Amino acid sequence: MTRDDPADSPLPAVVVLISGRGSNLAALLGADLPVRFGAVLSNRADAVGLQLAQARGIPTQVLDHRSYPDREAFDKVLGDAIETALGGSRGLVVLAGFMRILTAGFTERFAGRMINIHPSLLPSFTGLHTHRRALQAGVRVHGCSVHFVTAELDHGPIIGQAAVPVLADDDEAALAARVLRQEHQLYPRIVRAWAEGRLRLDAGQRVVLDALVDQAACLRVPA
Ligand code: GRF
Repeated sequence: MTRDDPADSPLPAVVVLISGRGSNLAALLGADLPVRFGAVLSNRADAVGLQLAQARGIPTQVLDHRSYPDREAFDKVLGDAIETALGGSRGLVVLAGFMRILTAGFTERFAGRMINIHPSLLPSFTGLHTHRRALQAGVRVHGCSVHFVTAELDHGPIIGQAAVPVLADDDEAALAARVLRQEHQLYPRIVRAWAEGRLRLDAGQRVVLDALVDQAACLRVPA
């Protein structure tokens, strides 16, 4: 390790996991957060977001899940890669469109230090096609949620949410775009709160947000 080794940085380390477009990654990278991005990891070599990271000199790594015999084997290697990228620190694992079902062993390994953004107001509409299902259900309010990751898909303790109206002439694409704009606001604010030591999960699985955190950082409701 040299004096210039980024692992020496006093900033808390973050590793981002992606599978595709990477617009949330772009929002995080553009938010001037007080963090060190240890790596961006992807299970897909064609994830566009990898190029965003490379353009900023952030190490990237592709781990193709199809090269492993089962989920446990893949998650073990992925977890080891994350630990390496965090440089031995207890950093934050940020899932940003990482399209993998995670094993309980993996979620336990990073319990309380792995977060995900989901395009619905949880606990409604876990899983896929959230905007289509919101339109089908006729909800008037939709949005996105950031939560700690636990073994049950999209069910971990909720940290923050942003709401948007569902308009009469919305189609899936219009609603998705409105939610995505809020995702790009919400996720950096929550990672900032973590980086500043103002966010944690307590032993009882309750989200603890320091009183100094602007509540608007974690709850955004349209006027
Ligand atoms: C986002 O809608 C996020 O909420 C969901 O996957 C999508 C990822 O989009 N988990 P991007 O790759 O960040 O553009």
